[in-house]
Amino acid sequence: MQQRDDRTARWQALDARHHLHPFTVFRELAATGARIITRGEGCWIEDSEGNRILDGMAGLWCVNLGYGEERLARAAFEQMRELAYYNTFFQCATPPAVELAAAIAGLLPQGFERIFFANSGSEANDTAIKAVWYYWNLEGRPEKKILISRRLAYHGVGLGSASLSGLAPMHAPFDLPLARFRHIGDPYWYRDGGGLDGESFGIAAARWLEEEILRVGPERVAAFFGEPVQGAGGVIIPPASYWPEIARICRRYDVLLVADEVICGFGRTGRCWGFETFDFTPDIVTMAKGLSSGYQPIAAVAFGPRVGERIFASELEFAHGGTWAGHPVACRVALETLRIMSEEGLFTRAGGPAGTLFRSRLAELADHPLVGEVRCCGFLAAIELVVDKATRRPFAPERRVGIRARELALEHGLVMRAVRDVMVLAPPLVIAEEEIEELARRVRRTLDALARELAAEGDGS
Ligand SMILES: Cc1ncc(COP(=O)(O)O)c(C=O)c1O
Repeated sequence: MQQRDDRTARWQALDARHHLHPFTVFRELAATGARIITRGEGCWIEDSEGNRILDGMAGLWCVNLGYGEERLARAAFEQMRELAYYNTFFQCATPPAVELAAAIAGLLPQGFERIFFANSGSEANDTAIKAVWYYWNLEGRPEKKILISRRLAYHGVGLGSASLSGLAPMHAPFDLPLARFRHIGDPYWYRDGGGLDGESFGIAAARWLEEEILRVGPERVAAFFGEPVQGAGGVIIPPASYWPEIARICRRYDVLLVADEVICGFGRTGRCWGFETFDFTPDIVTMAKGLSSGYQPIAAVAFGPRVGERIFASELEFAHGGTWAGHPVACRVALETLRIMSEEGLFTRAGGPAGTLFRSRLAELADHPLVGEVRCCGFLAAIELVVDKATRRPFAPERRVGIRARELALEHGLVMRAVRDVMVLAPPLVIAEEEIEELARRVRRTLDALARELAAEGDGS
């Protein structure tokens, strides 16, 4: 144990001194010290102090097959031995890149034939943005360049993808968003539904897109980007009426529709794609995370027939793409991931009995005094913490209730993330039924501990 503690102290000190973490107040973290994660097995991670923690977030919504999957390790090893790297520039390809492009096309609706590789969800969305602009230039409509997304959208951190994202801390400190980006409201019924029932609200929220298109002028609007379920914005699950209406509006005004499937893709919502669960067909699909179950950094953009065939037929060079585009090791691991997903029925597992168990166990938490709403879609869930269930009154932000719940969850051996005071969960798709029961028990214990803390502080707001 002594050796462990020494190691932890050393890593924490080096981390504090040299390592800048994403989305972090650097000095704050340096003062508290990072938790050092050292191992993973199945749905469990272990830290350098020997704590075993149930990973209710599948890493960062990505480790769909759980940790320690031998077949993925072997795929990487064998590919590294055979051909560790070759690029896909200068008229070259590698077997894993070719096979993976075909495998992704095979998972998509007919006509989605053209796949471009990138290395992160951010890059995939930046690629999609550039492809949209490239497309409208080819079409001889260079004025059609405005991109619309939503205020609680998260599409990544590139200059374009961060501009598409709507979260305020990503904008002002970096002088973003760039020109050409507009944001509309979210289909967030619990907070913004007013007196409307879910389905009427879904239509009303979709019409905000129409209003924005008309405000900008349809001749200037290039595309609408959206996550089928908004993950980082707080697992915002739109009413069923929302996406078909969005698709209708895009068709009506000749606006391209881009589905950001970085979280939803590969089975998270109970079907392979979020757009299948929500019943619409996009023009472009971006994907990452689950594509390799998080074992390798890889992402892709899939083009439907309209954009795919147009850019394919262009005589202009598509002057875009990186050194790691179609990296053979990442592609080989992704191919093996898709094979395992298919063999084990994981593309639809979250839509079957395991998903039902997850939903019903979490729904039981709705009786907890701190819980305003529990919402679930496949293996995605949000638990809204409120002061007052009847009025939905939120806690004062300075009480940092969500962050405290996240820390308490860790004390109870559970990774659960906080978005404002919304607790979110996205466990590995392989989570066993007993682990789902255990996860729900740990969430309840966490909420009970939080309720005791808050009660000790008195008042309620
Ligand atoms: C919906 C969505 N799009 C894009 C991204 C960005 O992906 P990456 O972090 O791989 O750049 C994320 C990351 O969480 C995401 O959730």
